[in-house]
Amino acid sequence: MDFLKITDIEPETLHQLIDKAIQYKKTPKPQKTLKTHDIGLFFEEYSTRTRVSLSVAVSQLGGMPHMLNKHELQITRGENIRDTAKVLSRYLDGLTARMLDHKALKEFAEKSDMPIINAMTKKHHPCQTLADLQTIKEKKGKLKNLNLAWIGDANNVCNSTILGNAMTGIKTTIASPKKYQPTKEILQEAEKYNSNIKITEDPIKAVQNADIIYTDVWISTGTEKEAEQRKKHFQGYQVNQDLIKHAKKDTIIMHCMPIDGKEITRQVVEGQNSVIIDQAENRLHSSKALLNHIYK
Ligand code: CP
Repeated sequence: MDFLKITDIEPETLHQLIDKAIQYKKTPKPQKTLKTHDIGLFFEEYSTRTRVSLSVAVSQLGGMPHMLNKHELQITRGENIRDTAKVLSRYLDGLTARMLDHKALKEFAEKSDMPIINAMTKKHHPCQTLADLQTIKEKKGKLKNLNLAWIGDANNVCNSTILGNAMTGIKTTIASPKKYQPTKEILQEAEKYNSNIKITEDPIKAVQNADIIYTDVWISTGTEKEAEQRKKHFQGYQVNQDLIKHAKKDTIIMHCMPIDGKEITRQVVEGQNSVIIDQAENRLHSSKALLNHIYK
């Protein structure tokens, strides 16, 4: 199976993966279920968490990770996706790939004869959402009927959050400037799971009943050319002490990292409501749950 977006699995499987990830966290020496598996990790873009957590997850499960930097492969010199995918499928048992263009990743998956895991495109970041849902369940003891407020850019992580929330019964409120709100396509896909989504331009309104406040950088990978314009448009969407005083006392603050500093203050990142580092740790445990599911 491929895992290109969170909806590539059924809601029941998603719940099982979250619980399995919680178990893995309590199991320092997991069963070597990936013995003899060679897994490629192909990265077109920078990555700290995804790259290292997936690599360590493969090795903790007994498999062999192979780091494939785009700049060391012939694909950078023009070799096409089909030939690359076909050839790598003869060597590897699976590939995790960070490619900005989601269509290119889909083509890679279609031409491959091995499972492909999306390690982030401009459209989806399903591995992040697995870790996020694990974190929410650990911190809140449940998922259904919680309220999540997304503040800022409705980017790839937001898309996967909207879909993951819809699949698990979390209610989502997005507070973004009009230009940066979720697309119809994502909202329609979420509707299939009876989603509960509100969209507003008012961050204070969004956080008022929030159990979870989530934000991400204003200038995501691939939007660097619009940096100055984006900084202006997102003024007023910073997650800071003034904003979180409108939220519940036990609201948790999430950010997928890396943190830029414009979208959230250091005080909030390091404050008592922040679960940001736990969230990053859970990338490892949830990756093991995903790999175990794919190769079981
Ligand atoms: N959250 C996330 O994907 O981090 P990296 O870009 O460091 O992998």
